Amino acid sequence: MTDAPKPVTIHELLQRKPKGERIVMLTCYDALFARLLDASGVDILLVGDSVNQVLAGRDSTLSATLDQMIYHTSMVRRGAERALVICDLPFLTYQVTTEDALRNAGRVMQATGCHGVKLEGGRPMAATVRALVDIGIPVMGHLGLTPQSVHALGGYRVQGRDAAAAQRIKDDAKALEEAGAFAVVLELVPAPLASDITKSLTIPTIGIGAGPACDGQVLVLHDMLGLNDRFSAKFVKKYAALAEDVRDAVRRFGDEVREGRYPDAAHSFPK
Ligand code: KIV
Repeated sequence: MTDAPKPVTIHELLQRKPKGERIVMLTCYDALFARLLDASGVDILLVGDSVNQVLAGRDSTLSATLDQMIYHTSMVRRGAERALVICDLPFLTYQVTTEDALRNAGRVMQATGCHGVKLEGGRPMAATVRALVDIGIPVMGHLGLTPQSVHALGGYRVQGRDAAAAQRIKDDAKALEEAGAFAVVLELVPAPLASDITKSLTIPTIGIGAGPACDGQVLVLHDMLGLNDRFSAKFVKKYAALAEDVRDAVRRFGDEVREGRYPDAAHSFPK
């Protein structure tokens, strides 16, 4: 009998930074993929509100709901043995009042068994992050291109390109660290800025489109598997081309059904 894998903890993740050990994070929305990713050594399964685009077919994350996130996070948690499971708090579930944030994040933790939540924003969210951390809810921050603010940011574009914007993101990262966040996602920021922020923090940074210096990397699973082949971006490396594999398998099934070649004797019950 093999021993159960040692679960990843936030405490252990924090100890990796000084040792230069990188964190591997991927988005995950269901138990089947959670099992596969967990067995492949992924440290953090992020139930991103990107589920609203990738699986639900919406054009942004803005309409994701708390119930939707709870549904997907519960599935992921059931499939994960070793990995840490983090749930995105959707738009408007934490920005209006701190009380909302406490109630909604608490509900997510209670209903799903996940290990923490992620929320977007820097200094303006610091008091909320502190309040969540103070009642025992681990928080991951998210800076740079924050998809819940896509309209205010003028689209999905690189953030922090000029000196003032770069300094703002750097200050925001410090504010999140001081408020007790255990990690911060840096999305779509220039590599030198991500490197500078990474060096200035004691908590890990996890990059997506933020260059190689971050303490960890995250990608949207369906993008890196080439399953979501309507989406491509410079920072997304495709490690497989599964959309083509799916189309090919389904075409062959269709041909065999139409030609009466499936099911054959090997796939039928003689009595
Ligand atoms: O929702 C999501 O998938 C995310 C990642 C892009 C970091 O927030």
